[in-house]
Amino acid sequence: MNKELVVVIDFGGQYNQLVARRVRECNVYCEIYSYKTDLEKIKAMQPKGIILTGGPSSCYEENAATCSKELFELGIPVLGLCYGAQLMSLVLGGKVERAENREYGKTQVTLDTNSALFGGKGAPLAVPAQTVCWMSHFDYISKLAPGFKSVAYTDNCPVAAAENVEAGLYAIQFHPEVLHTPEGSKMLYNFVRHICGCMGDWRMDTFVEDAIQSIRQKVGGGKVLLALSGGVDSSVAAALLAKAIGKQLTCVFVDHGLLRKNEGDEVEAIFGPKGNFDLNFVRVNAQQRYYVKLAGETEPERKRKIIGEEFIRVFEEEAKKIGAVDFLAQGTIYPDVVESGLGGESAVIKSHHNVGGLPDYVDFKEIIEPLRNLFKDEVRKAGLELGLPEALVFRQPFPGPGLGVRIIGDVTAEKVKIVQDADFIYREEVDAAIAKYKEENGGEPDWVPNQYFAALTNMRSVGVMGDERTYDYAVALRAVKTVDFMTAESSDIPFQVLQTVMSRIINEVRGVNRVFYDLTSKPPGTIEFE
Ligand code: XMP
Repeated sequence: MNKELVVVIDFGGQYNQLVARRVRECNVYCEIYSYKTDLEKIKAMQPKGIILTGGPSSCYEENAATCSKELFELGIPVLGLCYGAQLMSLVLGGKVERAENREYGKTQVTLDTNSALFGGKGAPLAVPAQTVCWMSHFDYISKLAPGFKSVAYTDNCPVAAAENVEAGLYAIQFHPEVLHTPEGSKMLYNFVRHICGCMGDWRMDTFVEDAIQSIRQKVGGGKVLLALSGGVDSSVAAALLAKAIGKQLTCVFVDHGLLRKNEGDEVEAIFGPKGNFDLNFVRVNAQQRYYVKLAGETEPERKRKIIGEEFIRVFEEEAKKIGAVDFLAQGTIYPDVVESGLGGESAVIKSHHNVGGLPDYVDFKEIIEPLRNLFKDEVRKAGLELGLPEALVFRQPFPGPGLGVRIIGDVTAEKVKIVQDADFIYREEVDAAIAKYKEENGGEPDWVPNQYFAALTNMRSVGVMGDERTYDYAVALRAVKTVDFMTAESSDIPFQVLQTVMSRIINEVRGVNRVFYDLTSKPPGTIEFE
């Protein structure tokens, strides 16, 4: 599909996907492979460049992740980052030793601006000689490999970057891929676009065109079935498949009664018969089935399991009505591929398998995953290219089990209605406050949360309303700022906004007499309530 490829070789460091994302931001397609990947396989891919990532071990230890010397002799430019930089030096005859002190955090670095990495030798993006970089290492390059020269240093690190221009080999001790290295993306750009000579042919408009062609080729006259959740990934997959094969695609959308207010209708408005996409849309209103199954269940993991299992049952029934299909489509994206251990080295066990097990219950011949090579921000761009509304494409994450994990204790239709209404008011007010701020100040306020929602605590307490005593539920408001959803801080929403939300919820939502704002960060809290 695309001709230019950079291979990112994964040594198990924590920023490996970030390295790949930064390369893609330079309009250069790249893929992540484990360091164990056979050299012949890498050669066969004919990459225009190779990047070695960071990693957790010391490269001189026995059994440490390594690579062969031949990797550096292919005539393909190689950039080693952190562990990758040290490994490159060691394998090519330099020396790596444990430093007296670990160098960690934002560090002042002095760069040789004659290096192409930093904008010298005709490279397009100039980097100032003095800048800040993000360091995280115990070991350091104590002796350069033959042919290399140092092109950057810090107070503690004599070789913060090195190069052997003739051999096309570059090493950076710090992490250019993280935001804490403000000039870092320029360095990566200089590497892939100048040193490797990539033209930058990776663009989402051409991705969409190419993907449509290859879906048509693969599917032929066959039938495709997709479980549409209304989330970003399955929606973009649906839009792409619809553009490619129209009515050969059937999307089954299960409304499990645990969606946000109006969400089922919003999904139907986009993908249903009145929407802009040509496909078969099946909406299953399974609300009551779910409420019956969930009745009396209070244990969070059991609730998740019931919701997941019921999804499979409902979907299976619908799939039976449709009969055998040729393809089951899934909205798998690149981080899912990498994290399930198929791409790189940093396999983590995914804790949330929303449609886990589905393939076991559907009669199909092959799986089709049109977004398999895309990062989330690329999926969003593809969604916009395909004409999906911004509100859908940029919507905040919503857990598969939906409001089921935002209602503490047992789930009932009454509680769902309360939390839906409270959540709707909350989001409406927060969105309005953000829009107002933007209008008045040009940019976004710094408190804009990455995820925000209302949850229903199981607490009921005494209150007064008018002259009457009430005994009603307490709603909790949550809003977090986070980059990776692994850690999060409570968002600093202006008190006035929270007050407006509080009074609207109490006035407009029956059954609520208290509103709390959750200040807890993650850890020790989680983002959801269960
Ligand atoms: P926690 O609550 O674990 O949430 O801090 C981190 C992110 O994961 C989402 N989340 C889920 N997503 N199924 C999902 O698809 C789940 O069971 C689930 N639980 C939490 C949560 O919304 C947040 O974005």
